[in-house]
Amino acid sequence: MGNDISPAQRVFSERISKRPEQKSDIAEKNKDKPIGIFDSGVGGLTVFSEFIKILPHEDVIYLADTARVPYGGRPYEEILEINRGILDYFKDRGVKMVIMACGTSSSMAYPALKDNYEFPIISLIEPGARSAVAASKNGRIGVIATQGTIKSNSYNNKIKELKKEAEVFSEACPLFVPLIEGGFIDSEETRKTARGYLAPLIAKKIDTLVLGCTHYPHLKRVISEIVGLEVALIDPAIEAVEDAKKILSQNHLLSNNKGSSNYEYVVTGPPLHFQELGSKLLGRSIPRAHQIKL
Ligand code: DGL
Repeated sequence: MGNDISPAQRVFSERISKRPEQKSDIAEKNKDKPIGIFDSGVGGLTVFSEFIKILPHEDVIYLADTARVPYGGRPYEEILEINRGILDYFKDRGVKMVIMACGTSSSMAYPALKDNYEFPIISLIEPGARSAVAASKNGRIGVIATQGTIKSNSYNNKIKELKKEAEVFSEACPLFVPLIEGGFIDSEETRKTARGYLAPLIAKKIDTLVLGCTHYPHLKRVISEIVGLEVALIDPAIEAVEDAKKILSQNHLLSNNKGSSNYEYVVTGPPLHFQELGSKLLGRSIPRAHQIKL
């Protein structure tokens, strides 16, 4: 990892060291609590899928805010309010960490909310930027994401912070999320839409492309066919989950559980569509999702 300590980890460690209780007592009490992972819909499942590989013994509450998908075109205040509601929900559920498995939330809400909770919060932006900088040879990096993420300049700023001379070319792809949530993963319409969004980036001769919205790795095959195999596709989830693991480990918060984990799915919209599409995209059964009101 490029950064020894992430912002979330720093905040969490400082908070723990100020406590009168012993660090180890706090850790022991929290080890077996679940981790909250959330997105507007099925996008965060691309993060959850990496999570299962890297942290297989952790319990998870996956929250899909399907009543309010898509997030991408919503104004800042609304995204902040939505994220506050979700983080408060996870606080009430007693989680030990939250992963913002959503590029829009990570870009727009993370900076304002990261210090407001007792648990560490993981954002995707720094890990994604770090992976892109490590992968790019010619320093020409493309970023595709929602309008909110692109407008925030979060990836652009972070990439340039890590590599001053990098050139970043961004493209918002607002039609991808509705297509993916509708289950149109490999359709002609999706391919045509992708060709339109990606053409300007191909023209810029990028050698690396950040999939800056967690829905987009579901289109990895389509995107790769269009941009060509010589363009490295960056899924920020892998580094983000590695960060999460490092923070848990350094704070003695890795679960004691050595067996199989408990995965709970909650949705704010109709459960059935999420269960069906989610099972297909995750490649494992989501037998039940229960609906909550936030
Ligand atoms: N998957 C989310 C993201 O990474 C949200 C997309 C949306 O709801 O517009 O940005």
